[in-house]
Amino acid sequence: MIKELTVDLGARSYPIYIGEGILENIDSYFEKHGISKRSALLIVTDEHVAKKHLEPVIRKLERAGFKTASHIVASGEKSKSLAVLEEVITSCLKAGLDRNSSVIALGGGVVGDLAGFAAASYMRGIRFIQIPTTILAHDSSVGGKVAVNHPLAKNIIGAFHQPEMVLYDTATLRTLPDRDVRAGLSEMIKHGLIWDAEFTSWCEDNAEKLIGLDPEALQYGLYKGCSVKAAVVSQDERENDLRAILNLGHTIGHALEAVAGYNELLHGEAISIGMVGAAKLSVRLGNPEHIYTTTKRIFKKFGLPVAVPAHMDTDEIMKAMMYDKKFKEGKMVFIVPTDIGKVEINKNVSAEWVRDIVDQLKQED
Ligand SMILES: NC(=O)c1ccc[n+]([C@@H]2O[C@H](COP(=O)([O-])OP(=O)(O)OC[C@H]3O[C@@H](n4cnc5c(N)ncnc54)[C@H](O)[C@@H]3O)[C@@H](O)[C@H]2O)c1
Ligand SMILES: [Zn+2]
Repeated sequence: MIKELTVDLGARSYPIYIGEGILENIDSYFEKHGISKRSALLIVTDEHVAKKHLEPVIRKLERAGFKTASHIVASGEKSKSLAVLEEVITSCLKAGLDRNSSVIALGGGVVGDLAGFAAASYMRGIRFIQIPTTILAHDSSVGGKVAVNHPLAKNIIGAFHQPEMVLYDTATLRTLPDRDVRAGLSEMIKHGLIWDAEFTSWCEDNAEKLIGLDPEALQYGLYKGCSVKAAVVSQDERENDLRAILNLGHTIGHALEAVAGYNELLHGEAISIGMVGAAKLSVRLGNPEHIYTTTKRIFKKFGLPVAVPAHMDTDEIMKAMMYDKKFKEGKMVFIVPTDIGKVEINKNVSAEWVRDIVDQLKQED
């Protein structure tokens, strides 16, 4: 059974379909949502995903009369750059994409963010469709934040551009390496930690099933994770306030990714450490100790890292945080858990305390 939910944004509302085998009927989803057969489509994907999942998608679409071209980027965070964006735009031009065309992001968060930003900027914005193929992308494919990185800061060049639909075929996840499975589950756990204590304990209880890609557990977990994301985005599309809660663990996490040069730590691993840091900060602010012990226990159960790698320099991590867009007027905006399933946006966290936490995070085991 395919599960469906809606991201409620008035005229820009869109559906998320989650289930096994969706791509076998990709043409009918496209037809149902009025994707043009006259204007060319550009499928953006990466090398790993192309090897496993591109061919059948092209075949289905071409047979149904869609005109497709594809653009394959190197796998990994380094493809979220202005240089690669320019190459994608070149492919849009060469394939003759017009105002009625759509860009299709077939891949994980890297491809989704890159292709989404290409769609947002090509001809000042054309339609795009998210086809997430990683677990992490249950987060990145929903909500319309699209971006590329600058060498000094992650996601700093971007836009808000909502997709037409999200087609989440859980069958594609079976080819995902184990490390990416676990890293993706980190964002799923985050959706529990910020919103829903019951879902958090469900994740903990179902850790083995989720890591083992049990289809039923996976579909339910992705559905719940997407539901939290959709609920938050529907209330605050442009991050005026509430949407910031999705950044739990990301202030420290993004800094770790930047210092690691975008390759030592996967995004989900970096924010796992960041969420343990946020929980430590919470306890320091006077909240109960169990917030930290529970948070750490869950991430360990999923085999995710909880410690800052000892070789990383604390000064450099703090400097990376200053470049981060969440650092406003000398005060740090920090998402702090106040219980499991609840967070607050604390706009008054001293950088000194965060520094202490980063140092302490090197001692975690
Ligand atoms: N826009 C947002 O709201 C948002 C939210 C969270 C994260 N992100 C971004 O998402 C990115 C991370 O996403 P990710 O973890 O999906 O990374 P990714 O896109 O790099 O995918 C991870 C790895 O898995 C491979 N892969 C993808 N699907 C596969 C499949 N089905 N089978 C085999 N291999 C496959 C990729 O080639 C890559 O090597 C980061 O850049 C992060 O900033 C964006
Ligand atoms: Zn994230």
